[in-house]
Amino acid sequence: MTSPSSPAPRAPIEPALAETAQLMERTLDALLPEPGGPEKQLIEAMRYASLGGGKRIRAFLALQAGRLFGVDRRALARAAAAVECVHAYSLVHDDLPAMDDDDMRRGKPSVHKAFDEATAILAGDALQAFAFALLANPETHADPYVRCELVAKLAAAVGANGMVGGQMIDLMSEGEEIDMATLTRLQRLKTGALIAFACDAGAIMGKASATLRHALHGYAQDLGLAFQIADDLLDAEGDPIALGKATRKDEGRGKATFIAALGVERAKAQAGLLAEQAVRHLEVFDEKADLLRAVAHWTVRRRK
Ligand code: IPE
Ligand code: IPE
Ligand code: MG
Ligand code: MG
Ligand code: MG
Repeated sequence: MTSPSSPAPRAPIEPALAETAQLMERTLDALLPEPGGPEKQLIEAMRYASLGGGKRIRAFLALQAGRLFGVDRRALARAAAAVECVHAYSLVHDDLPAMDDDDMRRGKPSVHKAFDEATAILAGDALQAFAFALLANPETHADPYVRCELVAKLAAAVGANGMVGGQMIDLMSEGEEIDMATLTRLQRLKTGALIAFACDAGAIMGKASATLRHALHGYAQDLGLAFQIADDLLDAEGDPIALGKATRKDEGRGKATFIAALGVERAKAQAGLLAEQAVRHLEVFDEKADLLRAVAHWTVRRRK
């Protein structure tokens, strides 16, 4: 599975992910508002949803992508935090009874269980708005054109033709037979688009050349699809304690997944191929991209 440009499978990905998780915890804790006033419950739910858990893969991708182009780490941490806020919002809404109806997330009760449904909806809304405010702030980048591009690209990644569109297709496809092209589009939109934005953000902030941006975007697109197939495999075969969420739910709900379409073994093979294909896009980069290479392999091996 290792191509000539891949690192050894023992590349130190776990400590690097742990370091990113710590950085995100500190950054989000400092940036998010402190609970207070009559809207206190909303802020508490925003903090509950975004702090204290998560693998922080999207943050990791933004940080590593920006590092390739010498972007300041503090500024990158703000952009990475914005991506994690949007992701946290998507999970809060994804778990609602009207959507996947999941009671556990990141090893604790989902936001609508710990608070209530109305608070979960509002906390998701506010986390999304907060992410855009972070990107639009001059502390994230001195150049207003860069900030504008970050905002526009995030909007495209998470809107009707991105993550939210993918979530709609996901729900509409429950119990339906869909063709591979629709299934691939569903997965690319609901999960791939935000993962691709995380990588794009680093390149945008580093004013990377079109060629390098293109290479990184190709990597992120394949990685995003591999990541969702791995998530679907973990639903079928994973440990709910390690994952911090319920498993074996997709089949019962008739979710359109690569497992439903191809079966477990072929879905695993497909995820592995996509990870290798992702890594091949990075051939234009030197060893500075090794952690991006390693995280692609880790994505399809992960147990959580
Ligand atoms: C779960 O994402 C939802 C998907 C898009 C597959 P993650 O597996 O990245 O969730 P956390 O952030 O680690 O909890
Ligand atoms: C979630 O996909 C995708 C988004 C939240 C955009 P899933 O519904 O498969 O994620 P989990 O399994 O609940 O984490
Ligand atoms: Mg879902
Ligand atoms: Mg779900
Ligand atoms: Mg899932």
